[in-house]
Amino acid sequence: MTYNKVQNATNRTFERTLTYDKYTDPKVLEKEMEMVFAKSWQLVGHVSQVEKVGDFFTAEVAGEPIIVNRGKDEVVRAFYNVCPHRATKLEKNSAGNKKILQCSYHGWTFKLDGQLNKAPNFRGEDENCVKDACLRSVRMEILESLIFVNLDDDAKPLSESYGDFFERLGKNPFLSELKRTHQKTRTFKANWKAFMDNYLECDHCHVAHPSFVAALDMNDYQIITCENYSIQGTVVKPDKKYGTVNLNEAEMQGGQFYWLWPNLMLTIYPGPGNMASIQIVPIDHETSMAVYTYYFRDENLSQAEKDLMEFAEQVRSEDIELVELEQIGFRSRAFNKGRYSSSEKAIVQFHEMVLEALNE
Ligand code: FES
Ligand SMILES: [Fe+2]
Repeated sequence: MTYNKVQNATNRTFERTLTYDKYTDPKVLEKEMEMVFAKSWQLVGHVSQVEKVGDFFTAEVAGEPIIVNRGKDEVVRAFYNVCPHRATKLEKNSAGNKKILQCSYHGWTFKLDGQLNKAPNFRGEDENCVKDACLRSVRMEILESLIFVNLDDDAKPLSESYGDFFERLGKNPFLSELKRTHQKTRTFKANWKAFMDNYLECDHCHVAHPSFVAALDMNDYQIITCENYSIQGTVVKPDKKYGTVNLNEAEMQGGQFYWLWPNLMLTIYPGPGNMASIQIVPIDHETSMAVYTYYFRDENLSQAEKDLMEFAEQVRSEDIELVELEQIGFRSRAFNKGRYSSSEKAIVQFHEMVLEALNE
């Protein structure tokens, strides 16, 4: 998907707007799982989660259990978290440190690089049958300390998938100092795409987010569509503050709100070094889970950082309420599609990409 295509798409806004069955039909989600989620780069973690040899964490991508660890050779690897003996989910914990991974079924053990260590029920001549049994690896790339995996062996490398996004992100000087410090999840009753649509425009901000428009200069709010991602941003009004803490004038570069195809959002607010990611994981066609992850310099947050988190969470719950109301209407027979203003071109880009991924 190129920028040109997006521009073309804006001329066809009405014909290409997703029809509401895309938000209510379980078959559409089934197809999206295969064609969208199992073929795109998905954020699974941050290098601060695998700092030491043996550190691991588990994740789920398009329904697939995944494990990421740091090997004896310091290399970070990703595998399907599935035992090659008889498919049992290998590591049950969400995170930890292990020098050897053991399956809880028949006790096979694996080295950190995925090689089989021991298969206790294959002895003598049987041993030959399992010599080549090892964990199946998954494509993984790390950029700006963010760990992504892709289940599609033919997908373009991450570094080539999002235009100049990582270059842009890398301009934030504090990025390498951040750790993944907090994670919260919230389940809501709406299709995953409703959340994305909501994030991708700010026409609703004046109506729905009084604290957000009070903090940001909405006259200078911009939405720019780029290759497989978009960015929204603004400058912060110098006289405004988050909570009770004045923002340092020198740090007022405006917020950066990124979207990356298909379901990842990254936000950076002015003020102390910070980043948050939001991932929307479909539970079913009308239920989704928002995973909010925060990255700060330290787990012990300063007052300004706590205020920022509270501010972000307030805005998010306002959005959740809206998309749940929207889902009710998606099910109604009143209309079968919506209308999009010219300031909603990032939604048009998203919809174009959904249709393209589904071959429609
Ligand atoms: S299924 Fe894992 S050891 Fe048998
Ligand atoms: Fe919003």
